[in-house]
Amino acid sequence: MNVIICSDYEQMSLEACRIVAGVMRKDKPVIGFATGSSPIGLYKKLIGEYENKKLDFSCLTTFNLDEYVGLDKNHIQSYNNFMMTNLFNHVNIDKSKVHIPSGTGDLEAFCRLYENEIEKSGGIDLQILGIGRNGHIGFNEPGVPFGSKTHIVNLDADTIEANSRFFDSIEEVPTKAVTMGIRTIMNSKSIVLIANGAQKAKAIYNTIYGPVTTECPSSVLQLHPDLTLILDDQAASMLPQKK
Ligand code: F6R
Repeated sequence: MNVIICSDYEQMSLEACRIVAGVMRKDKPVIGFATGSSPIGLYKKLIGEYENKKLDFSCLTTFNLDEYVGLDKNHIQSYNNFMMTNLFNHVNIDKSKVHIPSGTGDLEAFCRLYENEIEKSGGIDLQILGIGRNGHIGFNEPGVPFGSKTHIVNLDADTIEANSRFFDSIEEVPTKAVTMGIRTIMNSKSIVLIANGAQKAKAIYNTIYGPVTTECPSSVLQLHPDLTLILDDQAASMLPQKK
């Protein structure tokens, strides 16, 4: 495991951009993206690289981690809309190569299809992850089995509370999501987890030093052969090397 501690969010985004850009220069790259506030800076940097003609998105295939159940893909808070607004609408990506879980329709059938699509692509070269305060990765909340593939989950009260900042009221936050499973994530050839802010410090400590347990889903990442954590100073504040 590599741990990169950055001075701030800007630096964290720059480091993540450097790694994503490296993978994008390989033949037929496949990248898994995350939503939420953590990767927004990374996406801005990727757009900047595209505008400066340093990155070409035309050959890229993407798979997003998750989507809220019950939100139409055009809903302003859907993760589909998030990805279009924050990245895909600003670069030369072929939208037929963009895969974002569906939160409506036959979800069970969708989950099986999503796993097939990932397999058909040759597998994910690099998966970008954020992390929940409770250690969730994707929307795999504490207790989700490590063997899980793409599935439907009930969101934890803590996740609903944390994500209510994006909605007008907490009652509007969906209570379920479709998410890649832990096994799906662990099957990625490489993983970059980005985290910023003091509210992530405990989850980051547990990811690196805690026991590997489903009670802290991100702890399973200790078992991944190619994991990089990119942290800002505050997210790293509980790590022994910072103390
Ligand atoms: C989002 C996702 C979640 C977030 C996590 C952190 O696609 O899978 O695991 O990465 O909830 O969210 P932020 O970055 O908003 O703190």
